[in-house]
Amino acid sequence: MRARSVSSFATGLAIVGAAALAYGSLVERNLFTLRRFDVPLLPPDAEPLRVLHVSDLHLTPGQRRKQQWVADLAGLDPDLVVITGDNIAHADAVPALVRAYGPLFRFPGAFVFGSNDYRGPIFKNPFGYFDSEREYVQGAELPYEDLRRILTDAGWVDLNNARVTLKAGGKAVELVGVDDPHIERDDYTSVAGPVDGAADVHIGVVHSPEPRVLDDMAADGFSLLLAGHTHGGQVKLPGLKSLNSLTQPTQEFLEGFVSSGRTQMYISRGLGKVVLPLRIKCPAEIPVYTFRSYPNRTEI
Ligand SMILES: [Fe+2]
Repeated sequence: MRARSVSSFATGLAIVGAAALAYGSLVERNLFTLRRFDVPLLPPDAEPLRVLHVSDLHLTPGQRRKQQWVADLAGLDPDLVVITGDNIAHADAVPALVRAYGPLFRFPGAFVFGSNDYRGPIFKNPFGYFDSEREYVQGAELPYEDLRRILTDAGWVDLNNARVTLKAGGKAVELVGVDDPHIERDDYTSVAGPVDGAADVHIGVVHSPEPRVLDDMAADGFSLLLAGHTHGGQVKLPGLKSLNSLTQPTQEFLEGFVSSGRTQMYISRGLGKVVLPLRIKCPAEIPVYTFRSYPNRTEI
């Protein structure tokens, strides 16, 4: 009798697990959500500025629905597009990325790269993430110089260890970015320094949301940092740490707003997935921020 109960419990668990996997791989993985935030960054009486934040597409040539969904974001008519890396996941994905970003190229834009712009995906044992001593392995090299050339030819600013002030929505927007700190390509010292007081708004851009990058940019007076990389955890099962949180230096830097002093960083879940082809309790997202002058940040 007891053996039968254990067997029934195991069968039930297997059914629930299979259902969760099916839901995560067939349904939630394809739930692309647009999130809108009002952020009080502008001086009094300033006109709003709309900033679209695109991250972690991990695009492959066959992902036509994702390409079209991203292309349709042009309908938001953003003043500025910021890309926080991990654009492609296949050596032949650059033309697909152009299909996705093409309609956005008519807006001012800036980008940094993530580790997965340099190297493609490779199979990793999910349980290996529980081993803090595991060796960091990467896939085959991706055409990141082709990607860089296409984005810069479109007029977007390469912010990999760079700093610029550009015009967007009639405002002077100071941007600073670093290459991906997750693979130690960041060099903030080469671009460090107090913000330009003549600019209207000061934004930092980074792929992996490392606390030290937030602290450095906050010390220089940047108001808001935009980041991706974590996929928000991607797979969140009850009672367990989320899959992608295991690669992060601190569990707080997983998704949403975090802060250092008066500086905030928004960590986007992005649109893609890694290691496992599913998302559970962590739908993909693209945030669009409306910078305003009034004092309360709200999600609308
Ligand atoms: Fe990513």
